[in-house]
Amino acid sequence: MCGIIAITGRDDAIAQVLAGLKRLEYRGYDSAGVAAVGAHDLEVVKRAGKLEELTRALDDTPLAASTGLGHTRWATHGAPTDRNAHPHLDPSGRVAVIHNGILENYGALKAELGDVRFASDTDSEVAAHLVARELGRLQDGPDLLTAVRRVVAQLEGAFALGFVAVDDPDTVVVAKREAPLIVAHADGVGYCASDVAALIDHTRDVAALLDGQIARIRPDGIDVVDVDGTPVEPHRFHVDWDLDAAEKQGYDHFMLKEIHEQPQAVADTLLDRLTASSDGETPRLHLDELRIDEREFARIDKVFILACGTSLHAGMLGKLAIEHWAGIPVDVEVASEFRYRDPIVDPHTLVIAISQSGETIDTIAAASHGRDQRAPVIALTNVVGSTLAREADGVLYTHAGPEIAVASTKAFTTQIVGCLILGLYLAQVRGRVYASEAEDILTRLQQIPAAIEQTLLLDQEIRELAERYRDTDYTMFIGRHAGLPIAMEGALKLKEISYLHAEAFPAGEMKHGPIALIEPGSLVVALAPAGHVFGKMVSNIQEVRARGASVLAIGTDGSTADLKEHAHHVLTLPEPPHELAGPVLAAIPLQLFAYHVATLRGEDVDQPRNLAKTVTVE
Ligand code: G6P
Repeated sequence: MCGIIAITGRDDAIAQVLAGLKRLEYRGYDSAGVAAVGAHDLEVVKRAGKLEELTRALDDTPLAASTGLGHTRWATHGAPTDRNAHPHLDPSGRVAVIHNGILENYGALKAELGDVRFASDTDSEVAAHLVARELGRLQDGPDLLTAVRRVVAQLEGAFALGFVAVDDPDTVVVAKREAPLIVAHADGVGYCASDVAALIDHTRDVAALLDGQIARIRPDGIDVVDVDGTPVEPHRFHVDWDLDAAEKQGYDHFMLKEIHEQPQAVADTLLDRLTASSDGETPRLHLDELRIDEREFARIDKVFILACGTSLHAGMLGKLAIEHWAGIPVDVEVASEFRYRDPIVDPHTLVIAISQSGETIDTIAAASHGRDQRAPVIALTNVVGSTLAREADGVLYTHAGPEIAVASTKAFTTQIVGCLILGLYLAQVRGRVYASEAEDILTRLQQIPAAIEQTLLLDQEIRELAERYRDTDYTMFIGRHAGLPIAMEGALKLKEISYLHAEAFPAGEMKHGPIALIEPGSLVVALAPAGHVFGKMVSNIQEVRARGASVLAIGTDGSTADLKEHAHHVLTLPEPPHELAGPVLAAIPLQLFAYHVATLRGEDVDQPRNLAKTVTVE
């Protein structure tokens, strides 16, 4: 969702701000703007639509400044128009604000300002008015940090806020509560952005602000304080990927590049999971970060897996892995629902929060609801230094590298691998599998990257299928056991980027309603690998085919021969090294199918309409 960037200390600040906005585009947005701090005033240029609109406007009105703010807005309060785009100014035009989040008490704050004209319909603009008022009240001259501290103390809601003021030049002040903000300083330049992707051009040593922290960024350094002005420490870290990882590298779209990065991403996620034990025994599985005694995990009697979107589908596979290996009952729940009921959570409950970004507001809130009941929390995330990673008791990182396309691909398959590792880890700490067994399974899992390579060779065949079915109004995905979460993910991918109607059902539920939807012209995608539910899947395929549907079956080497008798099209995947690893492979043809359908239909694959990469507001 909204992306923030600010730079102070270089003559080409506005050009750099624009370059940073380009890197934040993937978060999802519908308008964009910049503010330049001049000697006597602030200049703002902002436009509804894509960054090209803003760039064109800046070509007509070039801005030169050594301090600037930039923003991409995903509309919440107020339509996506020029006037609602950020930055917003106070009425005197001396303070500018950019904001990601929602200021919940903006109505009351506006009312308290009295008879003042607002230039936009946003909740954010009030913050610029308030900071300007506080600046005016300061006796000892303009001090943007103090003014922002006083305003932040009045704000309710979630925010990453950035301010500049004409009266305190060469200064950017930013404040964070429940929305990500990264700050950095390198070579006499101060930076801040919503995520590291926007800063990676400049430095890989960054710091994530923690909730309640406020930073003053100047060319000579960064001061971080709390709302009372007491110096505090942000979370400093080094980014271990480079600029190349955030570029398209010759692919038409980030999504396609990320699909093809899956062999490496999965290999990296499997790497170095075993550590030699001091007694010379078999090496043991470990988490990347562990802040509580491992024995806590040994005592748990129930697991909640909490996540949103694609991560939720990985969580459904996590349930199968944990129940299978660790023998603990697992509930998987949409994070946005978890804290609105009365889940039975206690210190013997383990919460596993899965989030590519580690910044999805509902997943963070659900995990902290679990922590409030003293449940240990493990984060499965792709982003080092993310809120979820920092707040959890244990972290397992998926080493997928930056995922830029809104539709998640490599993050998903690495999350599945992460879930398998977690299942084995919990089994190990509870003594359910011997270290040698875990090592043996992990060794077999090392075959997955090569199997993914082989699966990617189906690309041309899948493109031909996409050409044939590109205008199908309704596609139903069906699966059983480990095939069901993949069916759900396949339907999600297709609707996310092609805007075609797609749904997924447990194949066994078809006769309880969904089969009524099937008619000639429908497409049914059936997940039918060899295994214990294969026979049942064949029956379901026959049922939909008898009612006129075209059937595309996703099989494996061991099931293809049978499938060819029943389905119109069969895509054959290699046999996975373990049944629970099959979904990693099965996800890939569905990613490619969605990708090709969407590109053939001319849709904006990397930035689909209405969607954001990371949902940071409820
Ligand atoms: C958004 C993205 C999805 C993602 C979901 C959860 O909806 O578009 O691709 O699966 O958020 O994101 P997370 O970062 O928590 O995995």
